Amino acid sequence: MKFFADTANVDEIRELAETGLIDGVTTNPSLIKKSGADFKQTIAAICEIMPGPVSAEVAATDAAGMEREGRRLAEIAENVVVKLPLTIDGLKACRRLTDDGVMTNVTLCFSANQALLAAKAGATFVSPFIGRLDDIHIDGLILIQEIRTIYNNYAFRTEILAASIRSANHVRECALIGADVATAPPDVLKALASHPLTDKGLETFLKDWASTGQSVI
Ligand code: G3P
Repeated sequence: MKFFADTANVDEIRELAETGLIDGVTTNPSLIKKSGADFKQTIAAICEIMPGPVSAEVAATDAAGMEREGRRLAEIAENVVVKLPLTIDGLKACRRLTDDGVMTNVTLCFSANQALLAAKAGATFVSPFIGRLDDIHIDGLILIQEIRTIYNNYAFRTEILAASIRSANHVRECALIGADVATAPPDVLKALASHPLTDKGLETFLKDWASTGQSVI
């Protein structure tokens, strides 16, 4: 399973990249707003730190406008993935960009039928939003399961990029289902490593080691 960092904060991305555990980055207009930084400069800076796929979202809503913006974003770096909304226009732009070799991420996916269309449009990634479905009392993980089944049925190559992940448990469930990628905020990614028994065990080991008076080197 690949892990993407869902943030536009360059410092956070740099810190996570140093772990060697992160395979890419996803951004969206809200995350860009939160960063307070210039959109295209931020994407360029992220692409320098992170060699894996970096999603940057278009702002136009018509197919021609999205295609134009997508081509401009794709010029920033070769690892830019053009993020397009799951609308008919977004799917049209997806097909055109994909046919020209531009990586695409069809976002704001909330149903299995939408994901089916994204795959038919040749999307590199589809982003089903788990947390936002949970917010309205619909189990987002069932959506991931349905998409996995449909993509397997027809050997679609579009990768399932589970998004709007809010907890370490979401990541675990997505991994069990077989999502290709989980994109999560830095605090959720860091939480994957933590366990109280690890902390307690380490504390005991360090105490016992200190009492031996030995050194490793
Ligand atoms: O990048 C899209 C997605 O992960 C947004 O998450 O928490 O705003 O629903 P959230």
